[in-house]
Amino acid sequence: MPATVIVGAQWGDEGKGKIVDLLALDSDIVCRYQGGPNAGHTIVVGEETFKIRQIPSGVIRGKTCVIGAGCVLDPEVFLNEVDELESRGQSTADVHVSGETHLIMPWHVALDQASERRLGKLQIGTTRRGIGPCYADKAARIGIRVQDVLDPKILRQKIEVALAEKNVWLERVYGVDPLELDELAERYESYARRLRNYVADTSLLVDRALHDGRKVLLEGGQGTLLDLDHGTYPFVTSSSTVAANAATGVGIGPNRIDRVVGVAKAYVTRVGEGPFPTEIEGPDQRRVQELGGEVGTVTGRTRRCGWLDLVALRYAVRLNGITSLALTKLDVLSAFAEVPVCVAYRLRDGSETNEFPAHQSDFHHCRPVYETLSGWQEPITDGLPDAARAYVDFVEHQLGVEISLVGTGAERERVVALH
Ligand code: GDP
Ligand code: IMO
Ligand code: MG
Repeated sequence: MPATVIVGAQWGDEGKGKIVDLLALDSDIVCRYQGGPNAGHTIVVGEETFKIRQIPSGVIRGKTCVIGAGCVLDPEVFLNEVDELESRGQSTADVHVSGETHLIMPWHVALDQASERRLGKLQIGTTRRGIGPCYADKAARIGIRVQDVLDPKILRQKIEVALAEKNVWLERVYGVDPLELDELAERYESYARRLRNYVADTSLLVDRALHDGRKVLLEGGQGTLLDLDHGTYPFVTSSSTVAANAATGVGIGPNRIDRVVGVAKAYVTRVGEGPFPTEIEGPDQRRVQELGGEVGTVTGRTRRCGWLDLVALRYAVRLNGITSLALTKLDVLSAFAEVPVCVAYRLRDGSETNEFPAHQSDFHHCRPVYETLSGWQEPITDGLPDAARAYVDFVEHQLGVEISLVGTGAERERVVALH
């Protein structure tokens, strides 16, 4: 049985959690393949709202959940999430964490914060959860992994060696307080005692499930334009967010994936710094923010809002091999008499392109070319009003990819299936 990837097609917060929750109904296992508690996936079930950061969104449907090798895991965030979910009646007994997953340590968080402060106006605007420093240590081969929690002696030793160096950085380079070894080692040993119950050979688990004909969802964190290689570097996250990495991040072959569902908002948002060609100027910025409730799940920052950018979305379709799209939050546009959609970029030399610029300076200086579509100015309740349907058809036609789902509200049921 093949696996399906659900990938963010913009700068994150596209509504992946809600789409995963929907597709999980008909699946057996849901895996995260990259990222960590920088993610915030929201699922609204009746009166209840779940904001999940570390555990796959499938946990709300009681599915088997896997945190894959390509993820980074903050044990404190993970265990708090476990406690919160359990206290709300959601079992976490079927959550499994790869032993290859890297642990976010307190020095990663401290270094992320100190480095952003030091950068000042040049900061990336990270979520300050230690993501970049943790992936950097992984690449430098000095990280501490989830499997290290299985042996208290090894864990203590690794913490001791790492901390000796990290404290030099914290004190001498950034001028902040060093971390205290004994307190930190004891705290991590107490996390380790609980985390041990979740460690599993998740690559084998997923492979066997696929062999047995079970359906697997691979849930992306962040979004395509935040991809470390292909995103708007350096204003990106530190992992590969694109669909191809789902295979690596979980530990299965790429030929196991046969469906890639891209998730895109009917407009665009971005948290953090970095270029954003279709960012709305004037009062409509605030209107979209308010109507869309565009406040970050993890950091509480207001999200920057822009009109739909088909140049960037075409790039996401290409990079991920998107086979169908879920277009979320179409209801938010119901308030507008006209809706601009960016169909091309005008570059510095005056030329126009509908392909995403390969050179970052071209992207930084491009101007959006808009086509203005009619709004529908009525709530989307039963089915799509004609002008809303025309908006969806326009996007589909421009991208050459079918839009299979349209989001019409935050609640679980507010989705229209089109194909
Ligand atoms: P994720 O990180 O991609 O899972 O997205 P977030 O959960 O961070 O942000 C998406 C926000 O939009 C959440 O508050 C969702 O509850 C909400 N949402 C998702 N789909 C829709 C939709 O179709 N309409 C509306 N109005 N809200 C939606
Ligand atoms: P979900 O999964 C939106 C952004 C941060 C910052 C950049 C780098 O909820 O879509 P990092 O802490 O990863 O080093 O920050 O990436 N960012 C996200 N933006 N949604 C996310 O996750 C994000 N995770 C990271 O704002 O610009
Ligand atoms: Mg989010």
